Amino acid sequence: MIEVKACIFDLDGVIVDTARHHFAAWQSLANELGIPFTKEDNDRLKGVSRVDSLEYILKKGNLVLDSATKLQLMEKKNAIYLSLSEKTSPEDTMDGIVSLMDELAESGLQIGLGSSSKNARMILTKLELMSRFSTIVDGNNITLSKPDPEVFQKAAQLMGVIPSQCIVIEDAQAGIEAALSGGFHVVGVGEGLKNAHLHLNDLKGIGFNYIQENLSAH
Ligand code: BG6
Ligand code: MG
Repeated sequence: MIEVKACIFDLDGVIVDTARHHFAAWQSLANELGIPFTKEDNDRLKGVSRVDSLEYILKKGNLVLDSATKLQLMEKKNAIYLSLSEKTSPEDTMDGIVSLMDELAESGLQIGLGSSSKNARMILTKLELMSRFSTIVDGNNITLSKPDPEVFQKAAQLMGVIPSQCIVIEDAQAGIEAALSGGFHVVGVGEGLKNAHLHLNDLKGIGFNYIQENLSAH
């Protein structure tokens, strides 16, 4: 059995279904720019920072803009995202998250957050989950976005654990790659993901023992 001391959760698409708000906001911005934006594009951008996401969309549309305009576009996207997420409340916490966090805490594990989003603390506050985390590393604390492992490495460091003692739970391919390259145990949640050590459709009814036993097989 692997020895696990901590679990790092991604936020958007794992703890709460805000991934659809990021999608809608980028889609609206891309529409305005006349650039097609599909679900496949969105899947590639899951876990990717705001600035890298904008660069991806502009590249797709062969658009070259100055940095002031890019800043404006990012502010616009964020304003749409914020208005869509405004009513986020504890009821929006994905099924299985609270009971899994309870179990992790009872088993003596630390709980960390590893998110690319600069809105992570605001969303966690709306979900009333802030106090569950011993460490939060988000888009404000990193210089390199997923698939770079920085966000998870920082969280592990702050919790005083090494990656091999740590589980990462992710819904994004970029996040899975980030965790793998950092040497973490990785659980992928959702469809169409590859390379995680354990793949689950969702976390409904999933306990810590189940995760630990199934990760130990890899
Ligand atoms: C990630 C999302 O968690 O955060 C991405 O999966 C998003 O879709 C990224 O682009 C950055 O978020 P924000 O809130 O800083 O724009
Ligand atoms: Mg995510």
